[in-house]
Amino acid sequence: MTSQKTKGRILSGMRPTGKMHLGNYVGALENWVALQGDYENYHLIADYHALTTKLDTSQLLDNTIEMVMDWISVGIDPAASPIFRQSQIKEHAELHLLFSMLITTARLQRNPTLKEQVKDLNIENLAYGHLGYPVLQAADILLYKGNLVPVGEDQAPHVEITREIARKFNTEFGEVFPIPKAKLTQFARLPGLDRNKMSKSLGNTILLSDAPEEIQQKMRKAITDPQKIRRGDPGRPEVCLVYTYHQKFNAADTEEIYQGCTSGALGCVDCKKRCARALAAKTEPFRAKRAALADRTDDIIAILEDGEARARTVAQQTMSEVRRAMSLG
Ligand code: TRP
Repeated sequence: MTSQKTKGRILSGMRPTGKMHLGNYVGALENWVALQGDYENYHLIADYHALTTKLDTSQLLDNTIEMVMDWISVGIDPAASPIFRQSQIKEHAELHLLFSMLITTARLQRNPTLKEQVKDLNIENLAYGHLGYPVLQAADILLYKGNLVPVGEDQAPHVEITREIARKFNTEFGEVFPIPKAKLTQFARLPGLDRNKMSKSLGNTILLSDAPEEIQQKMRKAITDPQKIRRGDPGRPEVCLVYTYHQKFNAADTEEIYQGCTSGALGCVDCKKRCARALAAKTEPFRAKRAALADRTDDIIAILEDGEARARTVAQQTMSEVRRAMSLG
């Protein structure tokens, strides 16, 4: 039962966005669960990072708890892998400050992920902390000497900056940090019901905790091939997001769906119903596990506190190495 976790250490992280949706699952969680066996895992809740785009913290704890319930529902095992909030471990702030001396503002301004965010969110006056987002992320990863960081493509530039900071530190002060690698998820961007990236803020999600009837209902809104108006019209699965969901969650039927769609024999209404059923079947075990956690907020907090105590031990050890290397007493 006890596997040998010899391949190294994984640091995975996510901002506390509340209930998880299918995009979170295929873009991150599925990967985290798959990697659990071979690696030692640390699962970070980036609640400081959340402040870069939202200063209102009234939902932060609720969102954190909902998110953790979903993490556990899909199979993250907090006994094996600590789950912890960044804000509860002061070493993140400390290492962030030291790392901020090792990178230029010009380098941070070139970060493509930041540029995209500034554009998407119409940010006119960028906060100093937002510019330093990847510096905090570097502290997250390197405090635990993470070797591998499972991320979607949008986060790859942050792992690159982490590598640069680690190298710079090691060159200036001696070898303390491993140089981590990004592990890119294959299915990085699952489209939402409106074809944009699935995202809570766009209101186009299917949640892992949605009941089968809700999934059916939401699926009705899903955008299909605009050229396929009624059953009988041949459709183009390659432009249809419902087909993308079939591919991801209903692999066994994909071939038949493709034939039915392209020949016209299968109408979009039926295709969507089948897709919703497949999604509900896939997420059923998650809902079952989640039902057992509902109302157990205190247990979730206890899980976090336990994870935080374990993570803190590692973080403190790294910080003492850092301080020694830097002759900071
Ligand atoms: N920036 C990541 C995101 O938005 C979240 C994150 C914070 C993270 N710290 C991390 C991811 C450390 C991996 C490792 O998705």
